[in-house]
Amino acid sequence: MQDLTIAVVGATGAVGAEFLRIVEQRYSQIPNLKLLASSRSAGKTIKVGDKELVVAEATEQSFDDVDVAFISASSAVSHQLAPAAVAAGAVVIDDGSAFRMEETVPLVVPEVNGADVEWHQGIISIPNCSTTPLVMAAHPLHQVNPIKRMVADTYQSVSGAGGGAMYDLREQSERLMDADSNTSKSEKGQTAYNVVPHIDRFLETGYTFEEQKMRQESQKILHAPEIAISATCVRVPVYISHSASVHIEFTRPMSPEEARELLSAMPGLTVLDNPDAGEYPMPWDVAGEDDVFVGRIRQDLSHPNGLVMWIVSDNLRKGAALNSLQIAEELVARGRLKPKHTSGVTG
Ligand SMILES: NC(=O)c1ccc[n+]([C@@H]2O[C@H](COP(=O)([O-])OP(=O)(O)OC[C@H]3O[C@@H](n4cnc5c(N)ncnc54)[C@H](OP(=O)(O)O)[C@@H]3O)[C@@H](O)[C@H]2O)c1
Repeated sequence: MQDLTIAVVGATGAVGAEFLRIVEQRYSQIPNLKLLASSRSAGKTIKVGDKELVVAEATEQSFDDVDVAFISASSAVSHQLAPAAVAAGAVVIDDGSAFRMEETVPLVVPEVNGADVEWHQGIISIPNCSTTPLVMAAHPLHQVNPIKRMVADTYQSVSGAGGGAMYDLREQSERLMDADSNTSKSEKGQTAYNVVPHIDRFLETGYTFEEQKMRQESQKILHAPEIAISATCVRVPVYISHSASVHIEFTRPMSPEEARELLSAMPGLTVLDNPDAGEYPMPWDVAGEDDVFVGRIRQDLSHPNGLVMWIVSDNLRKGAALNSLQIAEELVARGRLKPKHTSGVTG
């Protein structure tokens, strides 16, 4: 990895900042980084390791010396810049929803379907930050007892909506501390002291686009279009980490003990399931962790073939930045990503 030149489009955002933190923590030698964002951020500096790097405006001309471009900005930015990056010979790892469901674009969680990177044609997408933990937990169970149906209800942190939403939660919380909570009604976009059953736009089906993403993306990653999936995605006043209550119906009964054993053997997943001792995953504790955490594993008393579980993961790490870096590592391990040259740090 240290010989690669990595462009980070969206380096000033919530995911971009986490990406740079992970790079510092994960590699003893930091790869060549090219930090890119909008024209608003051009000229800003960001310290990565012992280097002070200058942010440049992302344009179609930014990718000539780049081996891998991590794009985490918006769908519009991905549509504008990804083709230019591919034309310049870079592999694009895209964090948004722009290309995820395109047939020519692998949608990858390396622990689940890492081999799918083999058929990329320049762009690889990472899933939505609630899809990733769901497929991480579903995959090892589905291998031994095919899943027929999953119902997932999420409790998603505000960082899933970017750095601006984190600022808003803080600002709203401070303001509401002084307000009369018995009489004031929620304002548009209020997450503080609130629970909002609305993430992304509503579709004709009555589901939101976020909920549709969980269904379609999970089926694509698991290579299992036959699994019926229904989600309700909810924003809660938590800064970092998404949680989900998930009901899974299998082909045959599966005991909680067997599920714990299978999940414990899954790379990148930690079972934390000791309710008697008050041990179960919570977003506050999971923030900053790489693994997906699963607890509250129990028989679904409403279905003989059903299990219920509680899944929590850091949406900025495994839900976004870490997964992207792992895809780059997967490409390197498979000999599918080689540096164009090995010059020093750019920026
Ligand atoms: N947050 C999550 O948990 C999560 C998880 C998975 C996927 N994603 C996806 O990741 C993307 C970014 O999310 P975020 O949470 O990091 O958002 P964010 O905190 O709002 O940051 C947005 C980033 O995009 C940059 N940007 C905006 N317009 C641009 C342009 N025209 N050209 C280049 N860069 C531009 C911004 O640069 P400036 O600072 O210069 O404006 C900033 O660096 C979104 O597509 C989101 O769907 C997020």
